[in-house]
Amino acid sequence: MHTVFGWSVSTVALALMLVGAVRVSQDAPASPTAELPKVRGDCQSCHPHEARDWAQSRHAAAWESETFGQTSRNRTLKMCLPCHAPEPLLVKGFGEHPTLREADRAHGIDCISCHQDANGAYHGTLGTQTEAHPTVKNEQFGTVEMCATCHEIFGTVDWYRQSEWGKDPHGCVNCHMPVVERPIATGDGLPARKARVHRFEGATPAMFQKGVKMSHERRDDYLQIKLESFELGHTVPTGPEYVVVIVEARFLQGDAEVGKHQTLLADNVAIDGNDTRLKPGERRVIRAPIPQGATAAVVRVLHKRNRDLPDEQARVLYEAKVSL
Ligand code: HEC
Ligand code: HEC
Ligand code: HEC
Ligand code: HEC
Ligand code: HEC
Repeated sequence: MHTVFGWSVSTVALALMLVGAVRVSQDAPASPTAELPKVRGDCQSCHPHEARDWAQSRHAAAWESETFGQTSRNRTLKMCLPCHAPEPLLVKGFGEHPTLREADRAHGIDCISCHQDANGAYHGTLGTQTEAHPTVKNEQFGTVEMCATCHEIFGTVDWYRQSEWGKDPHGCVNCHMPVVERPIATGDGLPARKARVHRFEGATPAMFQKGVKMSHERRDDYLQIKLESFELGHTVPTGPEYVVVIVEARFLQGDAEVGKHQTLLADNVAIDGNDTRLKPGERRVIRAPIPQGATAAVVRVLHKRNRDLPDEQARVLYEAKVSL
């Protein structure tokens, strides 16, 4: 009995040690590509920058997104699915709504969705040639027309065309894919080229604060909050009507909250006929009455991908404390 017990324990211990050993060797950066995300087509092995950046983008999250699940009846509403996990756009062509793919939907909108054509060649604008795969130089690539394939349904592109950037055929990527000079693939002797960052930053604090100037000051018995859209080619927020932004002032006396004022920026046309989103170039002034006894206020801008989420789950795009 004892020996059997002892043996089995040591076997378990040995097995654990082995598992431990394997873990350690996986965690250790055995090669510079060890912690790269795995993408369809294995692009990460030669395009590590694009792969790392893309993995942090909302395009990578487009299928798995919790709020997408909540609003599409757990990914069963057929009309909702194609743009969130598409077959390669270049097969039908830019401007045509994409087809839903069967395989690896969890990868959302990935490298192959945007770059691959019906012949398995990868499109871009740089005109590079490589033995690794066929490439096609395509002047339409990265234009507003390409992004519009999916982004036009919520009016983003219509607002864009009315904005001061509206005539630039590369307006979306110029704001959302900044240019950096670097080699675009791993390999000896490749020159630095004009590459574009693939994080597709949108509703993040850094982007919001680049696009919207915020200011606030006390005026008599109210706090005046000003928002100025000055580097933004569409409304804030933009997207389906689930996506909302809240401008909030929380009034404090010491640590205690003595009042709260919220203003909703949203496409409410289907609910009450109002569209309160911040338009390109618009200056909005919000007056929040200051409650008795308040000595300070916390001004925040909250972003929700689904308006039904509680405020605690919103992403904070801006926060500042003001003494009154
Ligand atoms: C074995 C390495 C390798 C793999 C794997 C690989 N590429 Fe490339 N790719 C290259 C090289 C090398 C270049 C050219 C670099 C240069 O000349 O600066 C290139 C160029 C490109 C370009 C630029 C086209 C242009 O000229 O504008 C795109 C886009 C591209 N690859 C997409 C992909 C995608 C998408 C995948 C995965 C589905 C992928 N590549 C997989 C090595 C690779
Ligand atoms: C939503 C569409 C989209 C997705 C997804 C996407 N790309 Fe791109 N990619 C672009 C655009 C747009 C450009 C820039 C075109 C231009 O203006 O030159 C680009 C450029 C590139 C280039 C040329 C060098 C550079 O960095 O600009 C490579 C290489 C590339 N992408 C690889 C990838 C890989 C690998 C993935 C997946 C990890 C990926 N792309 C995902 C749209 C996409
Ligand atoms: C295949 C359809 C498709 C194409 C093509 C596409 N997008 Fe997207 N994009 C989406 C979807 C879907 C989301 C939302 C993903 C999510 O959050 O679930 C998104 C999200 C984004 C976001 C982030 C929004 C946020 O909430 O922060 C930006 C920025 C963006 N796209 C820019 C672009 C640009 C620029 C292009 C053109 C180069 C482009 N997209 C092309 C479908 C697409
Ligand atoms: C002049 C710069 C500029 C241009 C042009 C521009 N954007 Fe934006 N975009 C921004 C800024 C800044 C934000 C962040 C503010 C916000 O949260 O809405 C943003 C946010 C977004 C978001 C996230 C919106 C949300 O509320 O969740 C998407 C999606 C997006 N942009 C897509 C596009 C597309 C598609 C185009 C081209 C038709 C485009 N943008 C053109 C600056 C720009
Ligand atoms: C034509 C392409 C397309 C179709 C069809 C589509 N979407 Fe999207 N969806 C997008 C794009 C593009 C964005 C990014 C919009 C933005 O943030 O401005 C997006 C963003 C979203 C978001 C916010 C981001 C997130 O992940 O929470 C939700 C929620 C969403 N879609 C739900 C739906 C639902 C529900 C349907 C069906 C009723 C649907 N979508 C159909 C293209 C599409």
